[in-house]
Amino acid sequence: MTDSHTIRRPDDWHVHLRDGAMLQGVVGHTARQFARAIVMPNLTPPVTDVASAIAYRERILAAVPEGMDFTPLMTAYLTDNSDPAELVRGHAEGVFTAAKLYPAGATTNSDSGVTDVANIRAALEAMAEAGMPLCVHGEVTSADVDIFDREAVFIDRILAPLIRELPELKVIFEHLTSEEGVQFVESAGPNVAATITPQHLHINRNAMLVGGMRPHAYCLPVAKREKHRLALRKTATSGSAKFFLGTDSAPHAREAKESACGCAGIFNAPFALESYLAVFEEEDALDKFEGFASRHGPAFYGLPVNEETVTLERAECTVPDSIDVGAAELIPFHAGETLRWRFAG
Ligand code: DOR
Ligand code: ZN
Repeated sequence: MTDSHTIRRPDDWHVHLRDGAMLQGVVGHTARQFARAIVMPNLTPPVTDVASAIAYRERILAAVPEGMDFTPLMTAYLTDNSDPAELVRGHAEGVFTAAKLYPAGATTNSDSGVTDVANIRAALEAMAEAGMPLCVHGEVTSADVDIFDREAVFIDRILAPLIRELPELKVIFEHLTSEEGVQFVESAGPNVAATITPQHLHINRNAMLVGGMRPHAYCLPVAKREKHRLALRKTATSGSAKFFLGTDSAPHAREAKESACGCAGIFNAPFALESYLAVFEEEDALDKFEGFASRHGPAFYGLPVNEETVTLERAECTVPDSIDVGAAELIPFHAGETLRWRFAG
């Protein structure tokens, strides 16, 4: 039995760092483990243009604790009115690594999102031409579609036609949660990849609903039946370069989650690598962890892998019940549990 596991320093290909005091409190948790992160643009107001992305990047860098080396990779929030020229300019200038499609109303701060992909057709064509990747929140929002089916229906109604029409567009199907999603990405061409969160590898929907309503297990897309979790675990640990790490760490103050209308989002940044590594060990796939965490993401985005390494040691790691980040009390994923690996730096 190995006692430590060393890999190239990983990146987080999907994270919410927020802004203001919350940003100050959470960015160190991501920067401690990850060299780079794809930063979600769903602030209020959202990050839609180059100038606001540059300003947000500066605020993030200013909030990174002394001595930590971290590069935020910025994304543009797509709206019905996105200007193709602005997106492509931001990408060419190294400001926008990607653009993010939030179907309007799908999740936190998505009200300004896209109401119909036809409205961003010119933007997507310009992105495909420029080699600028599209990050996708893959859920339909129609009231007639059950929330547990929203990802599968999104594939049929939106994503499959889009990829047929624009096969050159690089698409990251983010926070994949379903067997249908796994099958779709596996059978799609080389321009389609997906990120997978730690929570969707660890929990199914029972975690949210059995024995009482558990708001800290609630995120979007919601965790689904066990068969979906098993499909995600199988594909994440398979070694396929189409799947890589994206935590979707999404902090909300405790009281905003423990509420009559609790916010969606799981704060998993503090113990993200410990959480993922437990899954790879359980699936007897420790040798596949570096690919998932550190190699497949850069390869898909066309970026170099990180030169440094990180090590996790086999040692008990107790996750606190709550974490005070100054601006708020946050309940971390795995609160109160003991994990088997500890991040050693
Ligand atoms: O659970 C989620 N929280 N899913 C999202 O898509 C957004 C995120 C947030 O910003 O809180
Ligand atoms: Zn997210």
